[in-house]
Amino acid sequence: MSHESRRSNPVSPMNAELTALFERLLRESGSVESTEWDATDSRLGPAAYHDPAILELEKLKIFRRLPLCLGYADQLREPGSVLARDLLGLPLLITRDRSGEVHVLLNVCRHRGARMVKDENELCRLNSLSCPYHAWTYELNGALRGVPTPIAFPRLDKGTSGLRKLPSVVRHGFIWAILDPDQTGIDVAGFLGGIDDDLATLGLGEHYFFRQRVQRRATNWKLMLDAFQETYHIKKLHAQTIAPFFTEVNPASEAVGLHTRILVGRDRLADAEHLPPSQWDLRRHATLTHVIFPNSLLIYHPDSTSHMGMFPIGPNEIIFVHTMFIPEDAKTEKQIAHWERNFAMIDGGVFSAEDLFISEQIQIGVACGANDTLVFGRQEHNLRRFHENVRAMIGGSE
Ligand code: FES
Ligand SMILES: [Fe+2]
Repeated sequence: MSHESRRSNPVSPMNAELTALFERLLRESGSVESTEWDATDSRLGPAAYHDPAILELEKLKIFRRLPLCLGYADQLREPGSVLARDLLGLPLLITRDRSGEVHVLLNVCRHRGARMVKDENELCRLNSLSCPYHAWTYELNGALRGVPTPIAFPRLDKGTSGLRKLPSVVRHGFIWAILDPDQTGIDVAGFLGGIDDDLATLGLGEHYFFRQRVQRRATNWKLMLDAFQETYHIKKLHAQTIAPFFTEVNPASEAVGLHTRILVGRDRLADAEHLPPSQWDLRRHATLTHVIFPNSLLIYHPDSTSHMGMFPIGPNEIIFVHTMFIPEDAKTEKQIAHWERNFAMIDGGVFSAEDLFISEQIQIGVACGANDTLVFGRQEHNLRRFHENVRAMIGGSE
């Protein structure tokens, strides 16, 4: 490897937990079964994917309560950046104010409720937020700056009439928020538990935003989480794209509270057997995935990193947000073309045309009543645990 490529492609640093997971992947690479497989297969009723009552409980007890990852803060790199996006029925405004602070606000005017900025998923640059109805104007941190004809509002308290704010924080480069304006605090480190140190060790906060694509797709949010928690499908579904890069070796995965780490062997895994742990590379000898409960996935490709967020609209529909970030800023035409190809392959070729495609097919299948139950094989244990966690949080039983 040349000096230059070595510099731009350093081995990703690992903490003790990731090193132990890598060690287990190598140790078990010769086994047909894995020590982590379930004792037997398990069953799930298809209603989990299409019952509107279940989704309502999930929204109430999971999506409105837990910190959700809304994106990568470097997307709003410049002060004055504003992103309007409706998620889970809430019109949101994500802003970076002039002092550089990021805010997550409700995109709703405090006068008579008009939407402040259109939800077109395009980043805009604004000095302030001016309502299109009667021009009440707010700072980018949500504070009410002024109203036309102030003598018409003799009892208006400007101090309490700013845009409603959601508890939010930037941590490891990501924007996290709790989608409930009545909650006051947000503890992302506590919520992430052991994953928090993984993200710090991997230095995710120092990457650069490259691209984001937002799609409305006809599938249940949990089907896309299922798709990234087992590797059983790679050889078939991804035969024409990424399958040749992966081994038949069982992945090594583990629960970290509600979250999961999964390490899948790549075609170069065997090279690592002869290297000291300091040279094990979890982007090139293997591929790491973090499943962050409830609806986020982080995938560490050889060069770039993907965040995927699944935001339910209805039981049969999601907003799928895929963000790619990269270790060095793409500035030249050549660099941009390189990362565009990378994004097109991963976003268009793999996630959209294969994983989202099959999830939409399954959605039709589960809703039509063909199957009384769906079967998770012993090696699909991460899915069983994920669905158990969802059920426990919404108070259901099966
Ligand atoms: S609704 Fe916004 S200014 Fe009237
Ligand atoms: Fe897949």
